[in-house]
Amino acid sequence: MRILRSFSICTALAAVLSLSSAAPAAAADPPSQPAEIDCNKCHAGLTVRIKVVHAAVQMGCPSCHTGIAEANKVPHKKTNTITRGLSAEQPDLCYGCHDKAKFSKKTVHAAVGMGCTGCHNPHASNNGKLLVAPAPDLCFNCHDKADFSRKNVHAPVAGGMCLSCHDPHSSDDPGLLTKALYSVCFDCHDGVSKQPHAIAGFSQKGHPIGLPKKARKGKKERLTDVKDPNREGKLFSCASCHNPHSSDNVKLFRYPAKRAMDLCSNCHKY
Ligand code: HEC
Ligand code: HEC
Ligand code: HEC
Ligand code: HEC
Ligand code: HEC
Ligand code: HEC
Ligand code: HEC
Ligand code: HEC
Ligand code: HEC
Repeated sequence: MRILRSFSICTALAAVLSLSSAAPAAAADPPSQPAEIDCNKCHAGLTVRIKVVHAAVQMGCPSCHTGIAEANKVPHKKTNTITRGLSAEQPDLCYGCHDKAKFSKKTVHAAVGMGCTGCHNPHASNNGKLLVAPAPDLCFNCHDKADFSRKNVHAPVAGGMCLSCHDPHSSDDPGLLTKALYSVCFDCHDGVSKQPHAIAGFSQKGHPIGLPKKARKGKKERLTDVKDPNREGKLFSCASCHNPHSSDNVKLFRYPAKRAMDLCSNCHKY
């Protein structure tokens, strides 16, 4: 529709322009035509000499700024009430080309609701994926760095690899994890379920953390919905005993403990 309409305006403009050579006064204030105006004449700073340019920009500024009219005049006239003359509010603007499903799983990052541009530059960036800053600094714009900087820092956190465990947009698993919590851990610690470990408890009946079926073959199915006794709203998991980010205690223990047995009394009363 829009293409057709601007095509006819184009034709009208061409008609006005051809008339204008005969009668210049008539063309003193011709209707503007954004598609014909080189936005880069004044806005090159947004994209020029920046490493990664959003493919959408190559598709033309009006692919997101249909509300900007008479771009040859400053300030520009706007044909809608959305900030910056955008075609739609965020995040709907972005869903015009990006599959909404990826951003709408069970747990949606609150940051997505605050607008995609909290993390992405819509035009261009020197960081991969158009990020306004690379992880983990990106994350520390909103999350307190102190939680990730205690005495003992978990190796992947120290390496800034937040995305090895978290999806930045949304997830079907709690905590924006890329998959079930124990599977995230087993990616790097596959030995834990094989060696004696507090999760097995005594006679393998101990701590229910939702191991996959094959790990409990021949055993009574473990509950996966046991609640963390100390943290409201959380299920019992590896993270009930370990802080996945950093800790002032050995072995990333969540609670003050100098050795393993100091840990137990935080949940078990004797
Ligand atoms: C003649 C120079 C010039 C041209 C050509 C131009 N702009 Fe602008 N534009 C400006 C100036 C100056 C501003 C105001 C900058 C500011 O407020 O920081 C502006 C502001 C904007 C804004 C922000 C509006 C707001 O509400 O803050 C948008 C969006 C924009 N231009 C889009 C475009 C698009 C799209 C085109 C091409 C169709 C274009 N401009 C062409 C000079 C230009
Ligand atoms: C993918 C969609 C998209 C495209 C394509 C796009 N913009 Fe934008 N533009 C935005 C969004 C979103 C904002 C608002 C950013 C914010 O508020 O954080 C914006 C803001 C602006 C602003 C205000 C200043 C600023 O940096 O925030 C200007 C000027 C602007 N755009 C010009 C342009 C021009 C010129 C083009 C084509 C070269 C263009 N835009 C293409 C989405 C887009
Ligand atoms: C007019 C279509 C269009 C719109 C609207 C659009 N995008 Fe894109 N975007 C693309 C295309 C095409 C690509 C390149 C192919 C791909 O990665 O899907 C892309 C790629 C990206 C990438 C990956 C860049 C990279 O280097 O891998 C990010 C991040 C992105 N878009 C964010 C956004 C955000 C945020 C918005 C809303 C402000 C938005 N897009 C709106 C078309 C669009
Ligand atoms: C909390 C910050 C944050 C917010 C908010 C955010 N993103 Fe992203 N996005 C990222 C990060 C980080 C990556 C890079 C992921 C990677 O490298 O694995 C990314 C990657 C992408 C990509 C590249 C393809 C992919 O999935 O890796 C697209 C497209 C994209 N984001 C679009 C969007 C859109 C659209 C929105 C708003 C609905 C949005 N993002 C909101 C942080 C964010
Ligand atoms: C623009 C601000 C912003 C940025 C940037 C941001 N976040 Fe968030 N994030 C939030 C808010 C707000 C919440 C919800 C309140 C809270 O838990 O602190 C949240 C919550 C979370 C949660 C908990 C989700 C849940 O449901 O339990 C995780 C995990 C998370 N963010 C990871 C990240 C990672 C990883 C990055 C960097 C890639 C990042 N965030 C960048 C604002 C942000
Ligand atoms: C080794 C995997 C892993 C890495 C790496 C990781 N996280 Fe997490 N994160 C988790 C797990 C697991 C949870 C859920 C913990 C729970 O159940 O309380 C979580 C929870 C969170 C939360 C929710 C609040 C909280 O502290 O429980 C935020 C915010 C968060 N992570 C941000 C980040 C940021 C930012 C980074 C990078 C600096 C990062 N994470 C790196 C595994 C990880
Ligand atoms: C991306 C790989 C990776 C992931 C995912 C990962 N870890 Fe680690 N973790 C490491 C590395 C590397 C070390 C340090 C070397 C070692 O001791 O094995 C470590 C060490 C540990 C330690 C011992 C710390 C110490 O001080 O001795 C604990 C406890 C731990 N991780 C728990 C977890 C938990 C719980 C998860 C899931 C939430 C998890 N890890 C996910 C890589 C990972
Ligand atoms: C009930 C509390 C508890 C739970 C739940 C728990 N751990 Fe541990 N974890 C411990 C204790 C206690 C130690 C120290 C064992 C030792 O020093 O012999 C430990 C040590 C570790 C270590 C370090 C091993 C080493 O040799 O230093 C890793 C890695 C680890 N746990 C990962 C995990 C993962 C992954 C999960 C979830 C599948 C998990 N833990 C669940 C209590 C727990
Ligand atoms: C973060 C809290 C927490 C910590 C720390 C903890 N446990 Fe547990 N423990 C639990 C929960 C929850 C259960 C499961 C109760 C249920 O099934 O309802 C459990 C179950 C057990 C069981 C099995 C009880 C039964 O009825 O079969 C044993 C044995 C056990 N824990 C021993 C330990 C030992 C030893 C430690 C210290 C190394 C420890 N626990 C640390 C929370 C904890």
